[in-house]
This record gives sequence, C-alpha cells and structure tokens, in this order.
Amino acid sequence: MDCKYLKECGSCTLFTPYSEQISFKTDLIKQNFSPFYDGKFDVFSSSPKHYRTRAEFGIWHEGSKLSYTMHASEKGKKVFIDECPKVCEQISHLMPRLLESLQDDEVLRTKLFGVEFIACKSGTLVTLLYHKKLDGEFEAAMKILANKLDVMILARSRGQKLLSGELNLVDELNVDGQIYKFSLSENAFIQPNKAVNEKMIAWAKECVQGGADLLELYCGHGNFTIPLSFKFKNVLATEISKSSIANALKNCELNGAENIKFLRMDADELMSAFAGVREFNRLKDINLSDFNFSHVLVDPPRAGLSESVINFIRNFKNIIYISCNPETLKENLNELTKSHKVIKFALFDQFANTHHIECGVLLEAKDKF
Ligand SMILES: C[S@@+](CC[C@H](N)C(=O)[O-])C[C@H]1O[C@@H](n2cnc3c(N)ncnc32)[C@H](O)[C@@H]1O
Repeated sequence: MDCKYLKECGSCTLFTPYSEQISFKTDLIKQNFSPFYDGKFDVFSSSPKHYRTRAEFGIWHEGSKLSYTMHASEKGKKVFIDECPKVCEQISHLMPRLLESLQDDEVLRTKLFGVEFIACKSGTLVTLLYHKKLDGEFEAAMKILANKLDVMILARSRGQKLLSGELNLVDELNVDGQIYKFSLSENAFIQPNKAVNEKMIAWAKECVQGGADLLELYCGHGNFTIPLSFKFKNVLATEISKSSIANALKNCELNGAENIKFLRMDADELMSAFAGVREFNRLKDINLSDFNFSHVLVDPPRAGLSESVINFIRNFKNIIYISCNPETLKENLNELTKSHKVIKFALFDQFANTHHIECGVLLEAKDKF
C-alpha cells in the first residue's frame, strides 16, 4: 500500500503486495485448520485501500497546531499522521478539513485528545473526545462546525455527551443485489469493512439450505439476522448490547422483517435459561419449545465461545460460525468437531495490510437429525 507512514505507523503490519498477503493468509489458515477441513476454501479479498468505514485517531497539541496520531510500530511511541490510506474516501476527505477547523477554534481545540469517525450512507459522524467540561459556548461552536463541514458531531467528556443535532446513522448494504438498510449506533459494534461485510453476509446466506428456524447468538444490530431471516420461518436472535438491540428492532422495520424475536441477553445467561437453571423475566413472552431450530449462527467476540455455549449449540444440525480470532476458533472447533464436521470454510479479509483474519465455518452434525 502506498502510505508515507508505512512501517513507522503500527496500524499496518503486512507490507507485501496485496495478492501476496492473501496467499500468505490463505496458506496460514489452510495449514492451521487442516486437522478439521481439507476441502476448498472460499477466499474473499478486500480493496487494499480505503476500506475502513470507521476509524479512531489520537490528537497531539503543539501550541495551537493539532496533529492526528496513531500508535507507532515501536512500542509506547506515537506517530503523527495527516492521512491514512485505509480509511474510506468519505473519512479521508474530511480528515484535513476537520483538523484545520479545529485548529482555528480555541474552544473546540482545547483539551481535545481523540477523534473517531463513522461513515455511512446518511452521512459522517465525528466523535470528539475531551478532557474538560463541555459548556454552552462549546456547544454553540460545535454546532457551527457541524454545519460548516456538513457532518454530525458528538462530543464526549467524562459524564457528558453533546450532539450537534439529530443522530441519524443509517447505512445500506448490497447483498447479492438486494439492498438492506441498517440503523447503527455510535457506541456499539459495527463491522469495519463494508464491502467485505457484504460478502460475509452473502456467504452466510449461501450456507442455508432448507432453513426451518434460526437461533443467532451475538447478533449485534441484526447485520446477519435481517438478511438471513428471509430464509427462515422464525428467528430468535440475542445480543448483550442494549443499543444494538434497539437498532436491531428499528432494522426489522426498515427492512420489513417480521419473523424475528430479538432478545437482549448475555449468551451464558441464555444458556442457563435454556437449561432451566434460571428464570428470566425477559424470556417470559418467549416459549423456546415453539421453535424448531435447524441452524445456529454465532459471531462471538475475540474470546470465542464458552463451554456452555458450545455444549448447547452442538444440539443443532447446522452451525454457522463467524470468527474474528483464528486462535479461539481453533480451540472451539476442537470441541465442536466431536459432534459436527466442517463442510465449508471461508476466509474474509476484513483488515488488509494487517495480520488479522476473519473466518466463516459451516458445520453439520455427524449424526442424522
Ligand atoms: C463480533 S460482534 C458481531 C455482531 C454482529 N453479528 C455483526 O455482524 O455486526 C460480537 C457481538 O457480541 C456481543 N457480545 C459480546 N459479549 C457478549 C455476551 N457475553 N453475550 C451476548 N453478546 C455478547 C457484542 O456486543 C457484539 O455485538
């Protein structure tokens, strides 16, 4: 990638031409997962540049001059940057204009220590992070800046959150020619590479043949749930984040999905409920025996699946496992392949120029159901 901070900035860790990066990652995954699977690997590449629709930078002050910073490749150091080729064009164009405007305004500049960006179809959200109390003068300056740059601004300080106007974060995903709309939240998980995310959803849809009901754990705002729901009779989807669930409900309306029941619940608490160990008020309107789950989809955080989740999901014929951490995926497959076999394996390159690898695995029960 053509970047003037290459090797100095710690954000990228792979420096070979992109086609070599893909071969390296594919070989690594094939080798690591050969005890579980020796079939064809589906490999989904990314654009090596401008793929990130969300990004975070530190801010450095030198008098009235501001710089964006990233962690340097040398541990404990920072690197000053004025651009990042990985961020999408929408963020890339905004970065210098934002910095210039912040520099020119003492109220907005003072005690600013970080900037976050989320770019989507409805616009760009800029989150400004401060070490100071945000007063009326600040709020007025923030609104003027939002207007000038035509962005939404959210300013955060300890115990304070100010918005420049209505927060309207709606993105559109094109999955196999079908457009889905998603309302997003500024403080919950969002897949960072939109183009690869579209390919992941399409791959997960392809994994479903003859779906009865779907159980999904770690569903976020319904990124997989909504497109997949049209292949099932009923869907039960669970997630721990309150704001993600609020958006998931909006997203059902935005996409006309009427067969999904979303539940805000910790995955392990849900296991206790399923096992009848504990009763939960939130489950009082849901009769689990009404479902006939043919498929389970899990997309856990880096820690992977707990023992109780593994023992529960192996009761179902088809498991679609989306993983952002090959290490925990391997540990979990060690257990899951005692009852299931891997029948499809995919590599999604969500983070080009880094060692990060996202995988998709379809498992099918060895015993007949
Ligand atoms: C990798 S993200 C995937 C989200 C969603 N599938 C998507 O594609 O946007 C993992 C999700 O798990 C949720 N999560 C983390 N710990 C959890 C837990 N213990 N129980 C339930 N959900 C959890 C997070 O809030 C996050 O939304």
